[in-house]
Amino acid sequence: MPDPPLIAGNGKDIFVLHSDAKVLLERLDPNSTTLIVTDPPWNTGQVRRGSAGLKYDDKHEYVAYKTLMIRLFEASFAALNERGMLALWLDWRWVHEAAVWGDGFFGGGDGRGVRVGEIIVHSELGNPGKSAWPLKHSTILLFAKNPDKVEFNYEGLPMVDRKAPKSGHGQKYATEGKRATSVLSATMSNTDPERVGYPDQKPSWVYRALIECYTKPGDLVVDPFMGSGTLGRAAKGTGRVVVLGDLSLDACKAASLSLELTENT
Ligand SMILES: C[S@@+](CC[C@H](N)C(=O)[O-])C[C@H]1O[C@@H](n2cnc3c(N)ncnc32)[C@H](O)[C@@H]1O
Repeated sequence: MPDPPLIAGNGKDIFVLHSDAKVLLERLDPNSTTLIVTDPPWNTGQVRRGSAGLKYDDKHEYVAYKTLMIRLFEASFAALNERGMLALWLDWRWVHEAAVWGDGFFGGGDGRGVRVGEIIVHSELGNPGKSAWPLKHSTILLFAKNPDKVEFNYEGLPMVDRKAPKSGHGQKYATEGKRATSVLSATMSNTDPERVGYPDQKPSWVYRALIECYTKPGDLVVDPFMGSGTLGRAAKGTGRVVVLGDLSLDACKAASLSLELTENT
């Protein structure tokens, strides 16, 4: 199997590879990686389009999609170290099946890791329409290689407005804000300055929170379905080593550009 081509990087702590996700993960040293945070195709049945002609195909037959996900779980499990976490971002279409598939590899017991929770991400973006119940959330599944060894940094949780009733708690709680819990409100409008034109780009502050909560400087963090390279932007200045990959050359180019990396020619 050939090594995935390095499209861009700084030779030090960020690498952009043109690669299938499984191939990339299998090229990582076993037990090397502290966080794999990824937003694979959600199998929406559509061609997903961003601005400037950027697109990717998000139509997969059941067996092909299941195979993609099973390979992701298997290769992630091997690459993660003892503190390692897989954060997998999906939506209502496949998140429940994926949770069950993931449990086959992070299944609890026998040193096989465990699913330790989930984060619901809510967006107010767009007109939800009136013909059906509006679905405006997605889910990040959290799997630990060894839940006893995870070193969780509470300070990494984003601060949010305190919306609970003030009565009985005094002015202190009314003014201070609080740490986010399991529902994040993450609306990213089409004109958000963070947008780079790639379809289904995610807000980098959510990735940053996962980096801060689960990793330390010097740790390896990986996104094998990087799209526009959001994980790279989120990790900037944190001292983490970042490996990014995507099957689409357009994604590699968009990520390299947005990360201000010179492409290998
Ligand atoms: C939902 S997008 C990721 C968007 C990204 N989170 C962002 O913020 O820009 C999913 C990506 O997976 C890529 N992809 C699809 N199949 C792949 C595979 N087998 N290996 C690697 N990347 C793949 C697509 O090209 C697409 O860029």
